[in-house]
Amino acid sequence: MAAPLPRLEDLPDLDGARVLVRAELNAPLADGRVTDDLRITTTLPTVGWLRARGAAVVLAAHLGRPKGEVRPEFTLAPVAARLGELLGTDVPMAPSAIGGETTSMVASLDPGDVMLLENLRFHPGEEANDPAFATNLVAPFDLFVNEAFGASHRAHASIVGPPRALPSAAGLLLQREVEVLGGLLDAPEHPFVAILGGSKVSDKLGVIDALLTKCDTILVGGAMAFTFLAAQGYPIGDSLLEVDRIEDCRRLLATGRVEVPVDVVIAREIAADAEVRIVAAPSIPEGWKGLDVGPETAAHFADRIAPARTVLWNGPMGVFEVPPFASGTRAVAEAVVGCPGFTVIGGGDSAAAARQMGLADRIDHVSTGGGASLELLELGDLPGLEALRLGRDA
Ligand code: 3PG
Repeated sequence: MAAPLPRLEDLPDLDGARVLVRAELNAPLADGRVTDDLRITTTLPTVGWLRARGAAVVLAAHLGRPKGEVRPEFTLAPVAARLGELLGTDVPMAPSAIGGETTSMVASLDPGDVMLLENLRFHPGEEANDPAFATNLVAPFDLFVNEAFGASHRAHASIVGPPRALPSAAGLLLQREVEVLGGLLDAPEHPFVAILGGSKVSDKLGVIDALLTKCDTILVGGAMAFTFLAAQGYPIGDSLLEVDRIEDCRRLLATGRVEVPVDVVIAREIAADAEVRIVAAPSIPEGWKGLDVGPETAAHFADRIAPARTVLWNGPMGVFEVPPFASGTRAVAEAVVGCPGFTVIGGGDSAAAARQMGLADRIDHVSTGGGASLELLELGDLPGLEALRLGRDA
């Protein structure tokens, strides 16, 4: 793992400072309200730490993918409202991440105040990593904190720009994420079992190769498992297939350390009232698709997970949002919770599944970054971390 990140304790002159905190507040919304506030609550310890030392805290974040345009459905207003509820104080939102009005609002803050900037991605300069946008963004501030682990795999202006201009540090959550996920690569205790699911094997090939250098066993479920079953020469009906990845799957199976489903739950359609069958993996009929791992697979995966000293889980085992296809994901979640070893969920849908099942509190670490955690595991570093380490020397 690379050199340590600068810490909050290293920041100079916090009392009276105006601190720009790049946060990961990309939370799910419905009807104008936040439906899962994990990414907001996990940001609060850093906000509290800075406020307690006399700083005014201004959070900057993105929501969704508005592609450089002001699109009202991607406003961060619901996040400001939830922040206010959680902090028990008014959290005003600047109408734009940059500009004269924002500068005046920041200048009028008192020590301990908290404010939010409107969606960074309303500006094309954010994703384009435009240095002029970064310069405007940091202009009203004295210090910078990166608390956006979930966005630190993006070399966007608000992630890599501010450390070049301001004294900067990693937030408490970012530090913890890097410590835990980096620790999995540095010195995992064995047996180390990884469970990978989700839809596309192409998204996970890099991380599977990286994990094979550290893990004893990789258990594969989710739609990506069907390309592995095709690589074993089985018919997979209408299940998701990435033809151009069959060779890669063959290569991975040949290691003898990648295990795939032996039975699957199939249906003709993804619907709560669909006719459902459980079949052996080599027996998926035409017109049917695999939508979850079967009970025999779930039990086998649970047996593998039970004695592990380190467990990493990323990606659901099936379409867990639809009840007939949730059993495999639930069985894996329960096995991970029951494992006395060190357990980590690598963000994304498996984190959502564990929270939906009320099990997330019993996992040692639930990452707030889906893509970021996979990229950190695969490459060992992220653009946002590198920028913090280089600081104003970049
Ligand atoms: C996430 O939700 O994983 C992060 O906020 C990154 O979002 P992005 O994939 O739109 O860059």
